[in-house]
Amino acid sequence: MSNETEHDKEIGNTGHEWDGIKELNNPLPRWWLWCFYLTIIWGVGYTIAYPAWPMINEATAGVLGYSTRAEVAEEIAAVEEANGPINAKLVAAELTEVSDDPGLMQYATSAGGAVFRTWCAQCHGSGGAGVQASGYPNLLDDDWLWGGTIEDIHLTIAHGIRNEEDLDSRYSEMPAFGEILEEEEIVSVVQYVKSLSGTPDDAAQAAAGEEVYLDNCSACHGEEGLGDVFQGAPNLADAIWLYGGDTETLIETVTYSRFGVMPPWQGRLSEAEVRAVALYVHSRGGGQ
Ligand code: HEC
Ligand code: HEC
Repeated sequence: MSNETEHDKEIGNTGHEWDGIKELNNPLPRWWLWCFYLTIIWGVGYTIAYPAWPMINEATAGVLGYSTRAEVAEEIAAVEEANGPINAKLVAAELTEVSDDPGLMQYATSAGGAVFRTWCAQCHGSGGAGVQASGYPNLLDDDWLWGGTIEDIHLTIAHGIRNEEDLDSRYSEMPAFGEILEEEEIVSVVQYVKSLSGTPDDAAQAAAGEEVYLDNCSACHGEEGLGDVFQGAPNLADAIWLYGGDTETLIETVTYSRFGVMPPWQGRLSEAEVRAVALYVHSRGGGQ
């Protein structure tokens, strides 16, 4: 090869050659090599000092004992300690009087908002507006199944609804009228229920349904269909529907009944958190 210099010959080549282009056997630059060795040393040191190697159940812990989880736990503990006095004040206060103390109320509604977004939004929607016709009620309106005073809301949240985990849970059960009434009685009572909200499809059927209603439904839903918060029986006259107000859905509701369940939050959340989220829900509008 004519273009091979003395220098090239001295260094020699790796024996790799492509179309006359040879790969010379130049040594790596010193600085590069040292950096390379340093990263190896640093890497070994790191895996000894910090959590690194995945084992069967968990990774090696590292001699420094560092853990991001412990760091988070520490931060949480610090925040809890800082909030200790105000949480104690919230637990000790009369629920109805918290709103008289603007500082405490502001703390409660912001802490309650955080609890809501973590624990309640999955079912009630991120804004608390419920999910249409799903059985998860809107918590922002004035329509309360179990009562909208701050004490009512607190009790509902603390003990849950139709939940066997908690003996003080709100409880009631609408019978499945498919086993009690004839099909045409169900059709007519549904028309009557629709007429209470001013949307009957068939006035004659609705009129026929009135007697069925008064005999079978008024004990829980009230003679005028205004509902009963002691039994969690919804108002049927306000055109607000938990499960849907179209004829088909209403027939299904009356035939098979419904059994909305909410878990109790007492125990899962601290009393301060239950109170905070109750105040948050109450303050969002519609609280009586
Ligand atoms: C697993 C779903 C679920 C979760 C999570 C949930 N709820 Fe509920 N909640 C329901 C259902 C279902 C009802 C309606 C039960 C019924 O039919 O009476 C309800 C009813 C309520 C009511 C009564 C509304 C009324 O009109 O009287 C309140 C208040 C309430 N929830 C607040 C909360 C709060 C606060 C949280 C979070 C701490 C929460 N819920 C989390 C399912 C849930
Ligand atoms: C023992 C009390 C009781 C009786 C009797 C009763 N209901 Fe109910 N009803 C309830 C309760 C409680 C609920 C709420 C169920 C839930 O939240 O899961 C309900 C829910 C409903 C709903 C759903 C409302 C909505 O917003 O989606 C309709 C419709 C309804 N009832 C109609 C009737 C009709 C019609 C009758 C008579 C044929 C009747 N109910 C008899 C207790 C009763």
